Amino acid sequence: MTVPSFKRPAALALGLVLGLTVAGGTALAAVDAAKVYAERHDNFKKIGMAFKTINDGLKADAPDTKAIAAQAKIISDLSGKIPSWFPKGSGPESGVKTRAKAEVWSDWATFQASAKSLQTESAKLQTIALKGDVEAIKAQTKATGKACGTCHDKFRGPEQK
Ligand code: HEC
Repeated sequence: MTVPSFKRPAALALGLVLGLTVAGGTALAAVDAAKVYAERHDNFKKIGMAFKTINDGLKADAPDTKAIAAQAKIISDLSGKIPSWFPKGSGPESGVKTRAKAEVWSDWATFQASAKSLQTESAKLQTIALKGDVEAIKAQTKATGKACGTCHDKFRGPEQK
């Protein structure tokens, strides 16, 4: 069927609009990158604080293992949400001073797996901490820190000034 020539530009334009919408997913709709980044920043700060509190706590002569378990739970609860803090369109291309690399989105499966790995390790830390064996807690804290580092090495760029 031939499209009457006067309708062609409209059809083309519509096709372009649809194409863009599909390619960008919900991102193009309107990601407020600055807002997304601010929330992401706050959430990672929470994770960072919890992890620091655990490490500081382990320096005590008699670490409060229950308190450590509670901090580990904060990390495992938050880590399950990490992927949701990275909607498409909130990366470096948005102009916000994010440290997230473009690889977060181009290698989304690995990024998700890295978040999952932190969730697994921190949940394990919580379980171990509740049992109270300080040496075992120290070892699992290391494993948890490794999960942070693995993701940062691949997906986090240098500090933005
Ligand atoms: C799945 C990947 C991933 C994991 C796992 C991860 N991070 Fe991050 N983290 C990032 C990315 C990406 C950024 C940069 C975010 C940005 O700048 O938009 C970041 C940023 C941060 C920041 C800086 C917050 C800010 O904006 O100033 C802190 C602190 C941090 N992470 C701590 C941790 C700690 C501690 C752990 C482990 C307990 C951890 N992260 C695990 C990916 C991860």
